[in-house]
Amino acid sequence: MKKIIIRKTEEMENWRRNINSEINFIPTMGNLHNGHIKLISTAKKDNSNANLVSIFINPLQFDNKIDLENYPKTIDNDIKISFANGADAIFIPSIEDIYPPNNENIKFLKAPLELSSSLCGLNRIGHFDGVCTVVYRLLSLINPKNLYLGEKDWQQLLILKNLVLTKKLNIAIKSIPTQRDFDGIPLSSRNVHLSKKERKLIRFFSNELLEAKKIFQQEKKFCLTEILKKLSAEKISIEYLEHLHPHTLQKAKSEDNISLLAGAIRCGETRLIDHVFLMKRKPIIAIDGPAGSGKSTVTKLIAKKLKLLYLDTGAMYRALSWLLIKENIDYTKEKILQNILKNISIVFKSNDNSHQDVFINNNCVTKEIRSQEISSIVSKISSIKEVRKFLVEEQRKIGESGGLVAEGRDIGTTVFPYAELKIFLTASIDERAKRRKSDKNSKDSQNIELDTLKELIKKRDFEDSNREISPLVKANDAIEIITDKYSIDEVVDKIIDLYNDKIPKDTQI
Ligand code: PAF
Repeated sequence: MKKIIIRKTEEMENWRRNINSEINFIPTMGNLHNGHIKLISTAKKDNSNANLVSIFINPLQFDNKIDLENYPKTIDNDIKISFANGADAIFIPSIEDIYPPNNENIKFLKAPLELSSSLCGLNRIGHFDGVCTVVYRLLSLINPKNLYLGEKDWQQLLILKNLVLTKKLNIAIKSIPTQRDFDGIPLSSRNVHLSKKERKLIRFFSNELLEAKKIFQQEKKFCLTEILKKLSAEKISIEYLEHLHPHTLQKAKSEDNISLLAGAIRCGETRLIDHVFLMKRKPIIAIDGPAGSGKSTVTKLIAKKLKLLYLDTGAMYRALSWLLIKENIDYTKEKILQNILKNISIVFKSNDNSHQDVFINNNCVTKEIRSQEISSIVSKISSIKEVRKFLVEEQRKIGESGGLVAEGRDIGTTVFPYAELKIFLTASIDERAKRRKSDKNSKDSQNIELDTLKELIKKRDFEDSNREISPLVKANDAIEIITDKYSIDEVVDKIIDLYNDKIPKDTQI
């Protein structure tokens, strides 16, 4: 693709019409640093769309005239950097192009108060309204497929996600983690203004936040007033330092697994922001759904792509059913069952190709547990109170430090009710029966008539949904995906997008 600099909105419309591809859009205000480079190169790596970088210092988002005048301008270098790192086009409009006088079509937007009135919104009156206005204007002109933004401006990112949602724009927002300099301070265009002394102060501030993150990881707590004291002792002028829920920006609660510690300080004329995410354990994805909804295939692929542990809770119920049948145990007798459960060990082992075997009391039963014999009994066994209690505890032990994707029927409701992302996968009975029939892992299912399979699936659904303990139900906060019309890859990508939307990239590293 021919590299091009676009300055006028008409040229943008022309370019848009003539390129034969979707657009990745990276909006900037120039003075590009490694954070911007990471955005451009990530977009380049992600897909083969055209990469468009915009450079526009938006006067509407400055509440202070001097700040606007002093904002660093390095346009020639920015052009070089953008092209060198994967930009196909650079849009450098004038103020008149973005805000043509007397143009009634320009919409001046207001950022939602619940996200914009705290943190940076407290002192920068109108700032987020200006950001929303310019980004909406740019998106309307460019109509990109993907919008790339940095997590460094976390509050801005939340507000722009909200903008895309409320304006029903068909644009995916991709974010990159905060990029830090060698000394820990976040990269920012404003850093060039820092004197040696000011840089030392911001380094102290950032390192305090990074230290709090480390302490929180080990001790699951930290002391905000202690940090405030230390900052005051260094005579650092603090605008705010808050511990909040990362999405609602309301005060953090003790049950929040991931929370946001965000602050802003003033160093001379320069105002700098930084934040860290505090995390008690790594994130958990819960995928529930009925038999044949595609749970296993999808969950395995997600585990592989996101490098998470794969917890197949259904395999645990099946393995236990296998043992009870093989050893001819009368599992209807409470005492007998309790004694057996005391000596059960279920372990998953993966090989290099990420194939996972399940072992019960050292017997590898990966294949055996997929037989029709087990399929027909597992629902009954898994409805026994002692069995459920035992296996839910085992599953929680495996998930103690998080970093896993678990599939089952009660993951989001019972096993991990605090999972960061809950998915309820389902499909029509017809589709699920077809999938079971072509399941290479289940020879038995392949030999059963389609109509019989449908009846078996209906029976299983009924048993699972009507059992007394942990019935198969969609958790209130689960996102339902009906998979009939989607390919496996489409479902996987959709779930990964949802995960990336919920979980800051910084906590995924
Ligand atoms: O983050 C920024 O650089 C700006 O706020 C943005 C998104 C380019 C809008 O002017």
